[in-house]
Amino acid sequence: MGITLPERLAAGDPGWATEADVVVVGSGIAGLTAALRLRDGVGKVLVVTKDVLSAGSTQWAQGGIAAALGPGDTPAQHEHDTLVAGAGACDLDAVRALVTEGPEAVRELIALGANFDHSPDGVLSLTREGGHHRDRIAHAGGDATGAEIQRALVAAIKLAPDIEVIEHALAVDLLLGEDGGVCGMTLHVMGEGQRDGVGAVRCRAVVLASGGLGQVFSQTTNPAVSTGDGMALALRAGAVLRDLEFVQFHPTVMYLGPESRGQQPLISEAVRGEGAFLVDFAGSRFMQGQHELADLAPRDVVAKAITRRMHEEGKPHMWLDARHLGREFWERRFPTILATARSHGVDPVTELIPVAPACHYASGGVATDLWGRSNVPGLYATGEVACSGVHGANRLASNSLLEGLVFSRRIAQVLPAELRPYADPVVDQRTAGVVAADVRSAMQATMTERVGVLRNADGLELATKALADLAATPGEEGTAAWETTNLVSISAALAAAAMLREETRGSHWREDFPERDDADFAGHFDVVLTDAAPVATFHPSPATDGAATDGATA
Ligand code: SIN
Repeated sequence: MGITLPERLAAGDPGWATEADVVVVGSGIAGLTAALRLRDGVGKVLVVTKDVLSAGSTQWAQGGIAAALGPGDTPAQHEHDTLVAGAGACDLDAVRALVTEGPEAVRELIALGANFDHSPDGVLSLTREGGHHRDRIAHAGGDATGAEIQRALVAAIKLAPDIEVIEHALAVDLLLGEDGGVCGMTLHVMGEGQRDGVGAVRCRAVVLASGGLGQVFSQTTNPAVSTGDGMALALRAGAVLRDLEFVQFHPTVMYLGPESRGQQPLISEAVRGEGAFLVDFAGSRFMQGQHELADLAPRDVVAKAITRRMHEEGKPHMWLDARHLGREFWERRFPTILATARSHGVDPVTELIPVAPACHYASGGVATDLWGRSNVPGLYATGEVACSGVHGANRLASNSLLEGLVFSRRIAQVLPAELRPYADPVVDQRTAGVVAADVRSAMQATMTERVGVLRNADGLELATKALADLAATPGEEGTAAWETTNLVSISAALAAAAMLREETRGSHWREDFPERDDADFAGHFDVVLTDAAPVATFHPSPATDGAATDGATA
């Protein structure tokens, strides 16, 4: 039996209505940048966010934001490192836009009020992370970069009373007009008074900036709100999802034991950037000799090396040694990580930190062009929900905040001239459904075991069958079930692409096809919903890491 997914979420008829020219879904760096920059070009901007304004993934970003801002660094070098990390699957034009517009975008963020770390003589402090040949990661509060950026953006939004904000609002589905384009969306608001329950927003464009899908897996660095809602809603509206199989597992996530589930503490790559290194249970440094950058190799390389060593030693984790950094340095440079590790009973100043890979970032998402446009008229996407092509098969460290910043600016440049007229939605013929909320943990276990770091055909086949069974378990309308429906839908789409990509590339690691295969698999898998099932098709395109020789390295 094949899988059948809801073509729209079963939800009550809208009990309230409102109107905005543009609805921005999500309130991290991508959403708030889009909203702030759109306000001058369009009449009314409405930001909807599932929790409170500051609750998304951005505030959890530790390492920082990458841009060629340091002496001797250039966008060409940043481009080179991005293309190499992306393992041939990046879009060269998108990467060029990212790295050339990145420095100015970061300077604007600083001008907006984000307080980045500076040396005592006032020079912007830059550090290094995996895959970078230069110090180009700007950071704030030591290891609290995302929190500082989020604070600055929320402060700016609060000074923009013309931008309306609805918090505690789950984006349910898009409302589509006669041409299949966006003319509104339904929301579920956990509020009170006029805006409580399901409502409808008439609008002329929607910008998805709703983040990633980390909760697809049992352990993730992502917050609880990362349930793939934007990708699932776009899929149901006819959007193309691209590169979904490229899910990045962060190598150094603190291991809290076999029963630990949900969001796990990240130990930033910047800790390795400052000199920490990985060791096995015998105390051997196993990254040396595996890659020219050793412990600072691109993330997929390090995650694979840790996983291999875990399997060889039959252990659930490896160790990160950062004791030599010393107490004073730890307290100044990584205060958040230090406090978190200590709260879990490990003192990194005197002890090794247990680490294992966990789901961190969706490199794929809603396929967009260079200006954030999806294939659905009036639907734009930016940040982790999008696949702009900058990450390819493996995102370069600290390129994610930058992507949200740069591509939200780009959307704001084109969208005002592309606003659609207000229109009424057509009668929705899509089959409505909702999956039971209580299948979530079984789904996460399936995805972690069979579609996680290590994949093979048998496991993917079993996962596909299990997901079909779970998708056929009907549930009661409500936030938990809608989120679970989104998670199951995205899991099925991800597994469909992972099954067909019979090679190992970037963060997609097939045990049964351990080599990269440019002859057959240079290109992208696009997934669309066809007759209520996710269908993946391959679109070849030349591998782009060959172009990386253009950029000078350090
Ligand atoms: C980290 O600090 O290691 C994460 C940064 C990123 O995901 O880019």
